[in-house]
Amino acid sequence: MILQYLKYRLHAKTRHGIHSPFIYSFIEEVIYDGKTYPEYAIIEKEISKLKQNRNVLEIVDFGASGNKQGYKTRFRRISTIAALSGISKRHGRLLYRIVKHFKPATLLEMGTSLGISTMYQAKGNPDAQFTGIEGCATVASITRSSLDAVGCTNVNLIMAQFKTALPDYLSGLATNLDYAFIDGDHTYEGTMSYFNQLKNHVSSNSILIFHDIYWSEGMKRAWEEIKQDTEVKVTIDLFYMGIVFFRSELSKQDFVVRF
Ligand SMILES: C[S@@+](CC[C@H](N)C(=O)[O-])C[C@H]1O[C@@H](n2cnc3c(N)ncnc32)[C@H](O)[C@@H]1O
Repeated sequence: MILQYLKYRLHAKTRHGIHSPFIYSFIEEVIYDGKTYPEYAIIEKEISKLKQNRNVLEIVDFGASGNKQGYKTRFRRISTIAALSGISKRHGRLLYRIVKHFKPATLLEMGTSLGISTMYQAKGNPDAQFTGIEGCATVASITRSSLDAVGCTNVNLIMAQFKTALPDYLSGLATNLDYAFIDGDHTYEGTMSYFNQLKNHVSSNSILIFHDIYWSEGMKRAWEEIKQDTEVKVTIDLFYMGIVFFRSELSKQDFVVRF
């Protein structure tokens, strides 16, 4: 990860030297937007409460650290889950700005955990139809109260595994999917399977964001394949997350952007 990060820093560009007006303004107005939005304080007050909550939950992990049965259970404090699984403030704020900027009407988050990233994205567009999928029911029960506490009433939480919940959700969509944040099951097989399913429901304006693209060899391989997919137009590598655009007016290009 350290070597990979150094390689990223060496190759990463700022907005200077980027010729595409769409990408230039996305970097300038969204990625590098340093304003302090009032929503940040509301969300981060709730995150502080989660980080101080010492109650213990029995969690079931269906992701990359699951065992041969496909899952692993363990006991964890809510404070530990919030610290280890929750998105960082910097990246959460970026998700908020991306949603606020593009105003996607239909949003999906795969892997909501305690809802830290969910709060940032839901606050970005309170009018959106937002669906979150989380496999661990004990964790998801806490998520609902955090979302309600910050007024994110537009989020519908589905407590189920991706392998069943994703096809069900996609087949029930009345419109295209405008936006998805994928932050669970960090395996090559899982990531490629979700990408291929999501791809069938996107439009030219849709955005997919993959978290932890350098987390493992499997995630790196998946990110390489996603970048090369013929339907993908522009990808932006921010090291901790990779952003995928399908916009038909753009020519195929991969940007590594310093963040
Ligand atoms: C890294 S955490 C998500 C953190 C969250 N996005 C945040 O930033 O606050 C990943 C979550 O995905 C869930 N998950 C992993 N694999 C899953 C699967 N196959 N089906 C359903 N949920 C899964 C885990 O239970 C875990 O809560």
